[in-house]
Amino acid sequence: MTPASPESATKLPDAQESPPNSSPIEPEPEPEAETAQVATRDYNDDDDAANEDADSAIGADSILSSTASLTESILQYRQLHGRTYQSTKTTEYWAPNDDQQNDGLDIIHHALLRLFDDRLVLAPIGAHPQRVLDLGTGTGVWATDFGDQFPGAEVTGTDISPIQPTWVAPNVKFVIDDFLLEWTWPEDHFDLIHMRALYGVIPDLEDLYAKVLRRLRPGSGWVQHVEMEVKIESDHVRFPEDHIFNRWAALLYQAGEKMGRSFALAQGHTMKEAMERAGFVDVAEQKCKAPLHSWPKDPRLKEAGLYLQAAFDQSVEGFGMFLFTQVLGMDRDAALVLAAEMRRETRKKSNYHWFEVTAVYGRKP
Ligand SMILES: C[S@@+](CC[C@H](N)C(=O)[O-])C[C@H]1O[C@@H](n2cnc3c(N)ncnc32)[C@H](O)[C@@H]1O
Repeated sequence: MTPASPESATKLPDAQESPPNSSPIEPEPEPEAETAQVATRDYNDDDDAANEDADSAIGADSILSSTASLTESILQYRQLHGRTYQSTKTTEYWAPNDDQQNDGLDIIHHALLRLFDDRLVLAPIGAHPQRVLDLGTGTGVWATDFGDQFPGAEVTGTDISPIQPTWVAPNVKFVIDDFLLEWTWPEDHFDLIHMRALYGVIPDLEDLYAKVLRRLRPGSGWVQHVEMEVKIESDHVRFPEDHIFNRWAALLYQAGEKMGRSFALAQGHTMKEAMERAGFVDVAEQKCKAPLHSWPKDPRLKEAGLYLQAAFDQSVEGFGMFLFTQVLGMDRDAALVLAAEMRRETRKKSNYHWFEVTAVYGRKP
């Protein structure tokens, strides 16, 4: 594994060091415009005490261990507006866990790989990592690929949703585990702890990083965290304030604030600064623009854009449904209209649209 520096190849062509969004990606010449019932926490109940008592208790004072074993109830998914959601009693997660959403996670994984020059990890972990933890592993696609690439590593992926494959290489395993509960992982243990796409999930980023720090090997253990910005932008088209891209992002930020779990992790230097405050050293940040269609001229970016557009198209309803109905109190039809508007605008190649991806990694001193 080649050590990565902040100047190295994950940056998109033309991208500047800072601010990351100042350099446009070159589009293809002459682009053509294309026409292209849940038991859930009541986020709209003003009575905070009532919320704390809700079924989906998330308590700092929880006595449940984070590595509680899989129970049958975890496999009994909840239904909401025709989609399924995980049903752990400990933490309520906002995205569905059905095939439609999970396929999207796998496609996004491949797109992110193309964006990062096919590198699963940017941190300079060396050629022989031994113990690796992937928090909130989703379908486990990153962990599985990492296990293939590093057969000598023992990779553990954790999630509150049992959506990982059962047939995996012997050096990869998956555990149902809620990282918001008490941690039982050994201290000074892992060579790498990986996190990706945990927006709308983390109540206290610095606290999570501090827990990660304790479990990494002193001197040589690395954390890597990759997040995507929910606001869609363009270097070539100006989207007015009331454009669906801006309204969509504002609603997601608002839902995140209401849940106490931010959707703005990729903004500015939020992750980098929290990592440094938690005690990491050699912290490096890389930002790049992820095209959300096939408009870039560069073949690698074009491919990433094609993947991302395909993933977004099928995932967008799942991104918004729980947040808009359960958290912000809209009705289902209003949420569907917003998703349809997003789908229509993201399908327009002539928008030259992209969102920012931020990768941050740091070492335990
Ligand atoms: C957007 S998905 C990202 C999955 C994966 N990291 C990836 O990049 O493909 C977020 C995942 O975090 C999981 N998750 C949410 N809250 C969690 C928690 N408290 N503990 C463990 N996993 C959690 C969800 O179940 C979901 O699978």
